[in-house]
Amino acid sequence: MKKNNIVLIGFMGCGKSTVGKKLAGALSYTFQDTDAMIEECYGKTISKMFEEDGEEFFRNAETALLKQLSEEARGVVLATGGGMPMREENVAFLHNIGTVVFLEAKIETILERLQNDTGRPLADGEDREKRLRPLYEKRLPVYRAAADYILDTEDKSFYGMIEEIKKVMDNVTE
Ligand code: S3P
Repeated sequence: MKKNNIVLIGFMGCGKSTVGKKLAGALSYTFQDTDAMIEECYGKTISKMFEEDGEEFFRNAETALLKQLSEEARGVVLATGGGMPMREENVAFLHNIGTVVFLEAKIETILERLQNDTGRPLADGEDREKRLRPLYEKRLPVYRAAADYILDTEDKSFYGMIEEIKKVMDNVTE
């Protein structure tokens, strides 16, 4: 039995927030974003949190939030931080929350999208490509394994992606 929430996973810059907001609008669901929820809860940006409290603190905050959402989320499209499926216990929580959709994009597409972006501590700074390529390669099989559905986002319009996810959800029974 699946709850009718949709959980979006994937690498930084794969479009979780943009697709998630549009999808939530199309389904009349509520859009939630784990990064934004953590920032609000702790009153600081993710970058500040990495700097002041360390990555482990942030990862623990992510797990605690997922646990809470797995008990209470209803009618939600949830965009998750790119590192979320890397903890095994998180993957179980993601599935408890709802149908897990991996937004797959090529590393080249992602690097292009992140080009002028700041505010992501793992992507900011020098040698971005050198750091992100191996991280992407390490994570790709984990995203794929964690997903109920893999949505290839390359060369697709938002409309096309949303229709595809809606079809997936039509086959999910409450
Ligand atoms: C992270 C991705 C970020 C954010 C944090 C760590 C990661 O979220 O959670 O900077 O480990 O990939 P987005 O995927 O929304 O950029």
